[in-house]
Amino acid sequence: MTAPIVRSLTELRAMVFEWKANGETVGVVPTMGALHQGHLSLARAAKEGCDRVIVTIFINPKQFNNPEDYEKYPRTEEEDAVKLGPLNVDAIYVPDGPTMYPEGFATTVSVGGMTDVLCGAHRPGHFDGVATIVSKLFLQSQADRAYFGEKDFQQLQVVTRLAADLNIPIEVVGCPTIREEDGLAMSSRNLLLSDRARVWAPELNAAMQDMADGILAGGDVAELRAKAVARIERAGFTEVEYLDLRACDTLEELDAPTRPARLLAAAWLAGVRLIDNIAVG
Ligand code: PAF
Repeated sequence: MTAPIVRSLTELRAMVFEWKANGETVGVVPTMGALHQGHLSLARAAKEGCDRVIVTIFINPKQFNNPEDYEKYPRTEEEDAVKLGPLNVDAIYVPDGPTMYPEGFATTVSVGGMTDVLCGAHRPGHFDGVATIVSKLFLQSQADRAYFGEKDFQQLQVVTRLAADLNIPIEVVGCPTIREEDGLAMSSRNLLLSDRARVWAPELNAAMQDMADGILAGGDVAELRAKAVARIERAGFTEVEYLDLRACDTLEELDAPTRPARLLAAAWLAGVRLIDNIAVG
């Protein structure tokens, strides 16, 4: 049994209206489909935390700064619905383009500061696209809680900020990254890796783990970074976009873990952009 697919906003609103009238809490899990265990863990957390759960699937063109990347993004709606079946979510909301961006759409939600760095610096407009669609999904679903993976750590901070700044009455819940056995963070983009590239991919996380250990042992961040970048490139990655130690809350760059800190990285492997992050300390 798969959950009902809801394509119309009117239908979604009617469902949510009824749930809320019965005093039930609603959780939303925003996704772009191509669901993996990471997404399913978010849906499970939502099931535990809320009476009703909506998983949304919308491949948001406004967050892709490269049209080819948008075209290549895996589209697997039927398989996604099957994967969600055993979780007993209450609805899979799959709006179409005009529902999300009707003719004349002219509004952008833009979170300042923390979107200028890391992925924001390398993917112009990406976080405006994310912030805009997530604001819409929050308002459309009227959920009490929204579940996001820590795998997209910068995104998690951005959506937390926007909900607070816009007084959207929703609690943003961050959930741990789910990894393959070899350490590779689960991502829909992993489906795009060739068999050879898939073998090399875990080296990103392995190098980050060693770098984090080195930082905790008091090593110099710049030196450890250079060593880690060289290792990642030796493993077959063509470019390390960033590999930074940053403060968890503001994403300011740090040269020592003097406050809660994370190592964040983005790197290209055989035409696929992978990101990862781990706590330091
Ligand atoms: O993390 C994602 O899959 C997307 O950025 C999100 C949050 C669903 C917005 O399109």
